[in-house]
Parts: sequence; structure tokens; C-alpha cells
Amino acid sequence: MVQITRPLRPADAPAAAALHAMGFADAWSEAAFASQIADPATLSFAHFEERDLVAFALVRVVAGEADILTVATHPARRGQGLAFALLTVLMHWLVDDRVSRITLDVAEDNTSARRLYDRLGFTLDGRRKGYYTAGRAAPVDALLMSRPLTQQNPPFPK
Ligand SMILES: CC(C)(COP(=O)(O)OP(=O)(O)OC[C@H]1O[C@@H](n2cnc3c(N)ncnc32)[C@H](O)[C@@H]1OP(=O)(O)O)[C@@H](O)C(=O)NCCC(=O)NCCS
Repeated sequence: MVQITRPLRPADAPAAAALHAMGFADAWSEAAFASQIADPATLSFAHFEERDLVAFALVRVVAGEADILTVATHPARRGQGLAFALLTVLMHWLVDDRVSRITLDVAEDNTSARRLYDRLGFTLDGRRKGYYTAGRAAPVDALLMSRPLTQQNPPFPK
């Protein structure tokens, strides 16, 4: 099987929106992906198998800090380390680009994502009460997490 990891391109916006809709109740539109992909402050990595998009991660870099905008893996390929691998590549890229910190927010009830971020070395900074409401019977807190990115404290071995 041909497997490729590369940044998202404008032509990937429809596939990215379709994959995003499999993971999020408030999924981004094709136009939203097209706009993020075209934005020079947004960095992405995506994994393709036989030309099919199966996972991607997008971060926004502002003033030397990166924020994870979104991460998604196709339901049939979850639990196989794809998101871990993509975020590890992204963080190495950011370290090399002198980005010193990476932040994210995650719904408190998203156990897979929280385990992923714990394994990637993120720690809890705070929470936003009742931040997530889409597709839920009751609001769920957002957990605010971050980790430093330095040459002395790199993400993981290359
Ligand atoms: C969260 C999400 C992106 C994780 O993607 P993923 O590719 O399945 O992530 P990983 O495989 O790297 O890690 C997740 C699980 O795989 C397991 N895993 C990681 N590497 C593995 C490996 N090499 N072999 C076997 N299992 C592995 C992890 O232990 C983890 O298992 P757990 O969920 O039971 O703890 C995915 O579940 C998803 O798209 N969810 C919907 C959208 C979403 O919630 N995005 C995050 C918003 S903050």
C-alpha cells in the first residue's frame, strides 16, 4: 500500500471536511479548510493511504507559540498511532522552527484524545467551564493543555 505523509493542499479541502465530519458534531466546512490551508500561519500534516486521506492535524503558529486547531483520524484507522505520529512530526517541525510552546483545548469527556495528549507530554493549565455544547446533552468543560518545545526538551526521538 502506498502511504504518504505531507501537508494538506487546497485540493484536499473536501476530503478534510468529510473526514472532520466523522469526528466532530460541529465539523468545519470545505471553505473553512480551504481558508486554513491557504493561511501561512497554519501548519498541517496529513496521512494518505492509496490517495485516501486517513488522518490530519492542523496547528496555528502565532508569535512563537503554536495552538492545535484540530486533529482527526478516520474511524476505521483509530487506535493505530496515526494521530500520535502526525503530532510528533508536527512538534519536531515546530521545534526546528523555534516555536517554544504548543497549546490545545480538549473536551473533558474525550478520553481517546486526552490519553493521546497525555502520552505526547501535554499537561493541564486550566479549564473553560461548559465550553463544548455541540452534539451534547449537557455542556462539557474544555481542558486547556500545553507543553514546552525546546531543543533540550524535544517531543520524542526522531
Ligand atoms: C482523538 C483522535 C484524533 C485520536 O486519533 P488516533 O489516530 O486514533 O490516535 P492514536 O492511535 O495515536 O492514539 C489513540 C489510541 O491509539 C493507541 N495507540 C497509539 N499508538 C499505538 C500503536 N502503535 N499501536 C496500538 N495502539 C496505539 C493509544 O493507546 C490510544 O488508545 P486509547 O484511545 O485506547 O488510549 C481520534 O480518536 C479522532 O479522530 N477522534 C475524533 C476527533 C477528535 O476527538 N479529535 C481530537 C479533538 S481534541
